Amino acid sequence: MGSDTSWFIIVVVVIIVNISSSIVGGSADSYDPQALKALFRHYANLTLANHHTGAEHKVNLPSNFTGMEVSVKRLRSGSLWTRGTDSIYVKIPPNVKTLPYVKRLAIVYDNLGNWSSMYYNVPGYSLVSPVIGFDVYNYSDLTMIMDGNLTLSVESELISIHFPYLKVGDKNTTLLKCVGFEPDGSVEFKNWTNNNVCKVKKAGHFCVVAEMPAVTEEKEGRAWKWWVIGFGIGIVGLIVLVSMGMVVMLKWRKMEITKMEKESDTSVALDTFWVRGDHKMPCASMIRTQPTLEHDFVP
Ligand SMILES: *[C@@H]1O[C@H](CO)[C@@H](O)[C@H](O)[C@H]1NC(C)=O
Ligand SMILES: *[C@@H]1O[C@H](CO)[C@@H](O)[C@H](O)[C@H]1NC(C)=O
Ligand SMILES: *[C@@H]1O[C@H](CO)[C@@H](O)[C@H](O)[C@H]1NC(C)=O
Ligand SMILES: *[C@@H]1O[C@H](CO)[C@@H](O)[C@H](O)[C@H]1NC(C)=O
Repeated sequence: MGSDTSWFIIVVVVIIVNISSSIVGGSADSYDPQALKALFRHYANLTLANHHTGAEHKVNLPSNFTGMEVSVKRLRSGSLWTRGTDSIYVKIPPNVKTLPYVKRLAIVYDNLGNWSSMYYNVPGYSLVSPVIGFDVYNYSDLTMIMDGNLTLSVESELISIHFPYLKVGDKNTTLLKCVGFEPDGSVEFKNWTNNNVCKVKKAGHFCVVAEMPAVTEEKEGRAWKWWVIGFGIGIVGLIVLVSMGMVVMLKWRKMEITKMEKESDTSVALDTFWVRGDHKMPCASMIRTQPTLEHDFVP
């Protein structure tokens, strides 16, 4: 009886925990921007191995990354300095060089699209554009993109990030801000020039954000999840409590029955003890005739 109940409790708890975790979605740790960057570099390497021109090439990603756009371009440092280089969302003007100097470099561009908010967040703000990023690597040996980002040194004009769209809705656009995400997870606010453009001095990941009010939608979504989890935990708690109550009750009842049985077995012997009180003979017969169990069981 007792072990059946425990198994029932375990099964219910496991089911509810699974439901809750699938509602919340995998752990946040699985969306690591640094791991994503390494993965983009890996697929960019495969792309460059098959394309030997200096054009920008689309990088093919596994199908579970649908919604992200990645491309790669290789060029000479000299060309970057004299002409700059344009991609669809990132325009690097002339007079930009890498530190340290390398002969050739590879630029990996990415647009995280609908995945943006899985990888990047700004507390107190909501993302109104996709996250657009680019990383600059050493590609001097023409076989492998070297790990370790190169730093850009911008001498005159800044680099422009053009955002493909802003999901502003009826929000006050004067309150929008451009942010840059640092590799250590911190956030740097930058001047916003309207026209969907953000001016930056270095490579990295960028996004347009709006102050808190816009965050309600997302908040509600999360609140809803927590309600479901809370409800699940509440139900589990209730089931556990009720089951434990039942187990305790049954155990207690069983103990009482055995006690009663023992008592009635020994009641003849006990008679002599009770008889010593004011009530004399009737005691023994009372015990035998009364429905003792039910009588004693009243709480
Ligand atoms: C796609 O699947 C691979 C493993 O097959 C995993 O490493 C990667 O994180 C997944 N992509 C996303 C966006 O979760
Ligand atoms: C983004 O959209 C694609 C389809 O366009 C979908 O396969 C993918 O799951 C979406 N990603 C997220 C995080 O919603
Ligand atoms: C937008 O915000 C700015 C600064 O807070 C304010 O001056 C302006 O009146 C607001 N515009 C609208 C349409 O709410
Ligand atoms: C932002 O603009 C202010 C003045 O408008 C300027 O002083 C400041 O240097 C700019 N910041 C950046 C990061 O461009």
